[in-house]
Amino acid sequence: MSEPAPSPGTPSWDALLTQCGLPRLDARALLEHASGKRREWLLAHGDDPAAASVIDAFNALAERRRAGEPLAYLLRFREFHGLRFVVSRDVLVPRPETEGLVDAALEHLADTVRPRLLDLGTGSGAVAITLAVLRPDAQVVATDASSHALTVAQDNARALGATGITWRLGDWFAALAPDEPPFDLVVSNPPYLACDDPHLSDPALRHEPQMALVSGAHGMEAIGTIANHAPARLRAGGWLMLEHGATQGAAARDCLQRAGFTAIETRTDLQGLERVTLGRRPLAPDNPSRSQGVV
Ligand SMILES: C[S@@+](CC[C@H](N)C(=O)[O-])C[C@H]1O[C@@H](n2cnc3c(N)ncnc32)[C@H](O)[C@@H]1O
Repeated sequence: MSEPAPSPGTPSWDALLTQCGLPRLDARALLEHASGKRREWLLAHGDDPAAASVIDAFNALAERRRAGEPLAYLLRFREFHGLRFVVSRDVLVPRPETEGLVDAALEHLADTVRPRLLDLGTGSGAVAITLAVLRPDAQVVATDASSHALTVAQDNARALGATGITWRLGDWFAALAPDEPPFDLVVSNPPYLACDDPHLSDPALRHEPQMALVSGAHGMEAIGTIANHAPARLRAGGWLMLEHGATQGAAARDCLQRAGFTAIETRTDLQGLERVTLGRRPLAPDNPSRSQGVV
């Protein structure tokens, strides 16, 4: 259906961008989304009057953005490790820092054939699905305590062609069947903010699920639980990798040490902040040859 002729005073496409009070990149992304027009088209037609049918939709999105709603929720997707993930308010918006967790996992699995991977608290599925796409020989199990999050993750897996992931609903390792074979690698980006963390009042975080963000009085509850229970689910020589807050490196190393892990180290993100701590379940001292795979 063609647009009605613009009435006098209709703003141009460029005027919508400049008058909305948002940073240019955000405004442009929202205008592309609201109009269905590509960036090149909007650049070429910047002085033309905007389509009446788009103006209200764009202004409504811009208002939500000004109020702090994450851009990803407004656009309904976020790029992660080169893949496009649909997101809703049921899941954390995948963060660039978490790509470091995926990179560490890929590095440690480089020599392992048909690795068995577990992603705890999968949210949108960003970690599990990226690993499944980049390591199609892997057997991936992904869990979450939110059934809504698992629905989003399963939809993303279908859209990205990551078939063969097993999805489990439940509280950390309790989501797994008791006879689940051991894993080569357990990864998690668990919630790690303290319940009174001042960042929780940031407009952006207010829109994300609390259960994806908050973990007890000090933010370390989930990390401690996962570290304590991981050895029982890892093969001897298998790895645990946990994302955490930039100031939680020492506490995370301590959790892994107390849970009996060795070769503990913390990786930094692109800003040099401590972000991912990993450790290895020791080889069985009595019979090291029983460990499987290459580590
Ligand atoms: C920080 S988000 C990470 C989401 C996703 N892995 C990512 O990196 O974008 C933490 C996830 O853990 C899930 N979660 C919180 N408590 C949990 C629990 N007790 N057992 C399993 N999953 C839990 C949340 O629902 C959320 O999806």
